[in-house]
Amino acid sequence: MRNFGPQNETQQHMKEFKRTLVTAALPYANGGVHIGHLAGVYVPADIYVRYLRLKNRPVLFVCGSDEHGVPITIRARKEGITPQQVVDRYHGIIKQSFSDFGISFDIYSRTTSDTHRQTASEFFKTLYEKGAFIEKESEQLYDEEAKTFLADRYITGECPHCHNPKAYGDQCEKCGRDLSPTELINPKSAISGSAPVMKKTKHWYLPLDKHQEWLAKWILEDHKEWRPNVYGQCKSWLDMDLKPRAVTRDLDWGIPVPVEGAEGKVLYVWFDAPIGYISNTRELLPDTWQTWWKSDDTRLVHFIGKDNIVFHCIVFPAMLKAEGSYILPDNVPSNEFLNLEDDKISTSRNWAVWLDEYLRDLPGKQDVLRYVLTANAPETKDNNFTWRDFQARNNNELVAVYGNFVNRALVLTHKYYNGIVPACGQLSESDQSVVEEFKGVKNEVERLLEAFRFRDAQKEAMNLARIGNKYLADSEPWKLIKTDPERVKTILHISLQLVANLAIAFEPFLPFSSQKLRNMLGMNTVEWDRLGSTDLLTEGAQLQPAELLFEKIEDSVVEAQVQKLLDTKKANEEANYKPAEVKPEVAFEDFEKLDIRTGIVTACEKVKKADKLLCFTIDDGTGTPRTIVSGIAQHYKPEDLVGTTVCFVANFAPRKLKGIESQGMILSAVNFDGQLTVITPQRPVKPGSQVG
Ligand code: MF3
Ligand code: ZN
Repeated sequence: MRNFGPQNETQQHMKEFKRTLVTAALPYANGGVHIGHLAGVYVPADIYVRYLRLKNRPVLFVCGSDEHGVPITIRARKEGITPQQVVDRYHGIIKQSFSDFGISFDIYSRTTSDTHRQTASEFFKTLYEKGAFIEKESEQLYDEEAKTFLADRYITGECPHCHNPKAYGDQCEKCGRDLSPTELINPKSAISGSAPVMKKTKHWYLPLDKHQEWLAKWILEDHKEWRPNVYGQCKSWLDMDLKPRAVTRDLDWGIPVPVEGAEGKVLYVWFDAPIGYISNTRELLPDTWQTWWKSDDTRLVHFIGKDNIVFHCIVFPAMLKAEGSYILPDNVPSNEFLNLEDDKISTSRNWAVWLDEYLRDLPGKQDVLRYVLTANAPETKDNNFTWRDFQARNNNELVAVYGNFVNRALVLTHKYYNGIVPACGQLSESDQSVVEEFKGVKNEVERLLEAFRFRDAQKEAMNLARIGNKYLADSEPWKLIKTDPERVKTILHISLQLVANLAIAFEPFLPFSSQKLRNMLGMNTVEWDRLGSTDLLTEGAQLQPAELLFEKIEDSVVEAQVQKLLDTKKANEEANYKPAEVKPEVAFEDFEKLDIRTGIVTACEKVKKADKLLCFTIDDGTGTPRTIVSGIAQHYKPEDLVGTTVCFVANFAPRKLKGIESQGMILSAVNFDGQLTVITPQRPVKPGSQVG
């Protein structure tokens, strides 16, 4: 039996707060939303918020698009449109995906909104007036053609270590070394291709070094309860000396720096974006937003991915503290990364499952994805999404456990009692122990959710269905219906109460399915606090016809998804294909020694006991058929080659392959993917024509 003892620390701690402000990282508006985003940030945040709402705790869930930054300007330049057009497009797509997947934000706004521009601008001004910044001049690389300063990433050149010609200003992807743009040999701007020059520029810096001391105490001593991955990353930052960070940029896309002498400069995207949490709250609640941001009895929780930890745990808190009137985050539950089929998710390589495409291919299956991403959430370490696992979790858990139990309970009730909830008789010992077992679920799910342990919490909810299945299997009402109909009433009554409990327990996790299930049960409201009770449905209530909650996913469906990824991989290989290095020089006389000719394939067949070999009979114009064995069986069907004119080396020393004497070698080209293609003359030629 689980321990349902006193509530743990997290829960006691929760009680001191009057309201919870939950933020989810603002996604960049230069691409859609993929499963990595959903698993890392938005599904856990949504589960948490739905749970708090069910507990009737005041909560606000705030998000929006992050619409500034260099990548958006690069994208716009590439596509020949304005940055505003880029963000308009993706803001729409992102917003739609979140709403399709039931991510229940109270507001989803954007950092190009007027409210945000004003809020971020005021924030900067306040810090400026308080003397919270330092001003510094420095030399930076500048693109004279594009008239813009260049972020390190947008300078390419030759790596000084491995001589990779395509190294970036911050890193060489071939040898993995960190670089600075000035180290590159022949640096080039990725924007215009011109050689960058050094140019003086002034910027404002947030002196993180001055915040180091309180940050170290606040995180390392006062927030030991943060997830180990978050705490650990903060510790390794704080163990080093923090340095001042520039909060402005020379760029023409962003929020203008609101002080004199800052023409042509904008706020750095990582300065303005987190302020977006504040702006969006303000946009939603123009009169009361300050209660959510400036009173000590508000609990602020940031859901983010691990690449955002330093900004949310160190930089943004330093900004808030410097401003002086804001609260600091109480927790920053950050996930690790989700990989896809053993490879890092990547927008640029299109190695991702995009939410809009998912819904097009698997309509109505939002909850299946929510379920799988939570069951497999990268809470403590990077995790892997595979379509096979997706299928298995759907078929073996959602269908075979949850759906199956619900279906059996409802179908039996319809069959025996016309869908009317039967009366509950005297409970047997086994009934009682089942009732006891599911009573405990509420505390357990709550404890886990409040500790941000979403995987385990969902497992607990699923456990209710396992209890139900076992109960039905053990009590076998279908056998008792003839001999002991009164018992069957009690068994189904309890089973139906369990089904109703499932609708509540899964509400934060699988909102669409819970709604569907509640419709079948005629439950209009979800009363979380009644989770675990046995009187959710009243005797005599009429149930709606049973519908399947989940359906089996066939092999062909996941195979098509895997194929889609393989196609992507192939397209990437093609895009990245580089010809091999040219071999050392040879003299013309050496080349002349080779006798290359054409011939017509008159027969071609597989060589027995060899997967790779084909045996060719070739008309080489001499009147004597020539035999050549060639290793291209995996690339051609032999019959398809008969009649083709090929090129071959005629004066190779004969050699034996699988007992056949091969008199030459057929020439073929190797494609980027290893596919072989025989070389054939472009116009008809007589067999035996020389090639050279
Ligand atoms: N756009 C950033 C990313 O996707 C996250 C910004 S979070 C915020 O990594 F706090 F800055 F808003
Ligand atoms: Zn290198």
